[in-house]
Amino acid sequence: MVQSQSATHTSTHADSLRRDPRIAEAKRLIAEAVSDHGAQLDHVRGPSEPLRPQYERLLERLQTVRGGAPIWPYLSSGLGHELYVELADGSVKLDMIGGIGVHGCGHSHPNIIDAAIDGALEDTVMQGNLQQHPPTVEMCERLISMASSSGARLDHCLLSTSGAMANENALKIALHHKAPADRILAFDNAFAGRSLALAALTDRPNYRIGLPLALQVDYLPFRSATNPELSRQCAVDELHRLLKRHPGRYAAFWAEPIAGEGGYYPGSHDFFKALCVPLREAGIPIIFDEIQTFSRTTRPFAFQHYKLDEFADIVTVGKITQVCATLYGKDFVPKGPVLSQTFTGASASIAAGLATLDALEANGCFGAEGTNVKRSRYFAEKLTELSEKYPKQMQGPFGEVMMLVFTPGDGSFEHAKALLDIMYEVGLLGFVCGSNPTRIRFLPPPTITTHEHIDAAIELLDKALQKWKLSMS
Ligand SMILES: Cc1ncc(COP(=O)(O)O)c(C=O)c1O
Repeated sequence: MVQSQSATHTSTHADSLRRDPRIAEAKRLIAEAVSDHGAQLDHVRGPSEPLRPQYERLLERLQTVRGGAPIWPYLSSGLGHELYVELADGSVKLDMIGGIGVHGCGHSHPNIIDAAIDGALEDTVMQGNLQQHPPTVEMCERLISMASSSGARLDHCLLSTSGAMANENALKIALHHKAPADRILAFDNAFAGRSLALAALTDRPNYRIGLPLALQVDYLPFRSATNPELSRQCAVDELHRLLKRHPGRYAAFWAEPIAGEGGYYPGSHDFFKALCVPLREAGIPIIFDEIQTFSRTTRPFAFQHYKLDEFADIVTVGKITQVCATLYGKDFVPKGPVLSQTFTGASASIAAGLATLDALEANGCFGAEGTNVKRSRYFAEKLTELSEKYPKQMQGPFGEVMMLVFTPGDGSFEHAKALLDIMYEVGLLGFVCGSNPTRIRFLPPPTITTHEHIDAAIELLDKALQKWKLSMS
């Protein structure tokens, strides 16, 4: 039936659905059931024998569909509790890597499940260019407000479904703005994602085997914590050399404020300022990739942690935000339709992202004495004790706030992999990063990690190092 008269109600039917007491009751029951079942998962344990055969078969099927072995034999059961995750073989692991910084509220967190139910109640699973819902607007506004809270001029936000797409959009914005300039500046060891263009930007030759170079990229050396002045000077000299060699050709400087996949090397205010000032003078847009760093320092964004707000022209976020985004200033609004996507995010992802931002704020993660700093200090102290106990097996820790890392053994990939496998076996999840040396990193969820979780991780790492040491002798 076509209704020609305009409606006069002051709230939508969707609002009344969300306020329906049956929804509240259903959510309460779901939360209760999740909590009852998840409560058992509060310590590490090995696999359950009866589940082993079917788990093995699942892993074989995974290998078949992937066309190769997975990085590790991990298949989640779909339930967890805080930092503990149950695998489909019934084992429980302590997850200190969280899908590489994605599970910012740990596993099966009640607020995230609640938000995901809200997302499931939306009329469509996905949102995109022709289907945007109010939570998209809220997510964009929240990110803009957080990013510009100490002076950065970031007026706009575009959501996307992956960090790679957020970086693609950032590069498109900069290239479009600076056309016909077509070169990009980045750092040695950069990691930007897995698209064709980003394979050219990412400084890992083996990630672009057989791929054409879609972008022309020149690399600067990154900061060295052991020689900050010299490394700054080297980077600045190299920048000037390149600017002279390719005048007017650079469309963007793209940087991770803390090198992530490259091995958790922190930047600093002085280091970045020494580069950003001449970049500004040359009119080259500055892109900060915060896909791994967002939420991990004393401020939501690491560019804020290093007080680089005035230089942030375009910023990308992802991972812990559950939906990815590109933030940019009004001078960078494209003049043509170069940005658009069928999918900008799943309704549940956007809702979970908003709940994660709430949790970061509610848990006092930020500030010079915020929980990120306190937990990092505690964790670093404990890791230092372990490196004193196992000087041949472990050096460190290094990193920045809630991005902690150590170097196993001689820094070779083989040593890192050997220890990582033992850690997995004893029930502790971390992951490798960097090369020369290869390191093992931890990205515990900033919103919920406690000293007890850290103590448990240290106990497991101690056990793994002991086993590794014995296997070496
Ligand atoms: C700094 C950085 N940028 C971009 C990406 C790519 O994100 P995604 O894997 O979601 O495409 C990653 C992923 O690890 C990252 O660490």
